[in-house]
Amino acid sequence: MPAPALPPTAPSACRANTAIILLLALCAGEVVTPAAAGPAAAAYPTPPTLSALPDTPFGAAIRHGHAIFTDTHNGAAAYVGNDLNCTNCHLDAGRQANAAPLWGAWPAYPEYRKKNHRVNTFEDRLRDCFRFSLNGKPPPAGSAVIADLESYASWLARGLPTGVSPAGRGYPRLAEPSQTPEYARGKVVYAQSCAACHMLTGAGLKTAGHTEFPPLWGRDSFNWGAGMANVDVAARFIHANMPYGRGNTLSVQQAWDVALYVDSHDRPQDPRYIASVAETRQKFHASPYSMYGRRVNGRLLGGDTNGAPQP
Ligand code: HEC
Ligand code: HEC
Repeated sequence: MPAPALPPTAPSACRANTAIILLLALCAGEVVTPAAAGPAAAAYPTPPTLSALPDTPFGAAIRHGHAIFTDTHNGAAAYVGNDLNCTNCHLDAGRQANAAPLWGAWPAYPEYRKKNHRVNTFEDRLRDCFRFSLNGKPPPAGSAVIADLESYASWLARGLPTGVSPAGRGYPRLAEPSQTPEYARGKVVYAQSCAACHMLTGAGLKTAGHTEFPPLWGRDSFNWGAGMANVDVAARFIHANMPYGRGNTLSVQQAWDVALYVDSHDRPQDPRYIASVAETRQKFHASPYSMYGRRVNGRLLGGDTNGAPQP
């Protein structure tokens, strides 16, 4: 495999090494810099680290929840249908402010969600990310996988008041783009700032069965029902967190353009699919931010396999 060409703005440690193995060693484990957390970083809660874990049955459950979250393939294999792990979107094992941290979510549930028009428990929310973001099967209610993930989340959030969204929850708001997001401009941003890690094919990079750089589209990525498949959600995540380790370096326009580009590619079918793409769009994707059911480059997104998983 040829060495990937890193964008000119890549951290010097990454740029200096052209061998892919060095790139992986230097960049995959790179710690997100304070700059990525935005100007109000000091105001965010500081979750405890694993070294502070009690040596008790609760400690063991927390440790297991952490293992599932960071290596979902081995920790909860039966419920995962793609190449992603929870931590690929909830960065730093669910600790990173502005990357939908677990400590931000835990105190806010139960909470009403427009997605399913009812009040959701934290368990409901976990099960949804398995179903859509991991393109898998939701673990049964009350199962050990759910219980251990809850142990981990509750421990990260210890001391935070319940019923309140802490600063740093979810993704930051992002201004509207000055120009309508455009595929062609997004393609340029992608080639310059993303393809070095996620590959021009969007398939990411796996080494020895482990996902180093997660796939952004295609059969091994999140499905059409996932939050990240909405251009606005993806734009907010990308602007705050990508390129990896250099959040808040893309312009607002670049984030919207590249989010549109990523979400204009095929991915596994929405598991809520009903009858036809048009009906599924009408029922679940009636949003200007969903590309599902639209035609891009002659291809009907979500459509060409009539409901079967996309190749
Ligand atoms: C230096 C390598 C690198 C670059 C460059 C990079 N990413 Fe990432 N990206 C990652 C890694 C690593 C993760 C997973 C983070 C983790 O597991 O801690 C990730 C995660 C993601 C995710 C969530 C997971 C998924 O598969 O959907 C999206 C979306 C994403 N990146 C989009 C982008 C976009 C868009 C760009 C360009 C603006 C970009 N990335 C540039 C390394 C990179
Ligand atoms: C492809 C990316 C992706 C992956 C992988 C993923 N999630 Fe999510 N998750 C999201 C997005 C997007 C949201 C919504 C964030 C927002 O809109 O603020 C979310 C939200 C959540 C929330 C609620 C956050 C809040 O503040 O309300 C929890 C809890 C959660 N995910 C847990 C998980 C777990 C557990 C896994 C692994 C089984 C997982 N996620 C995998 C993208 C992902």
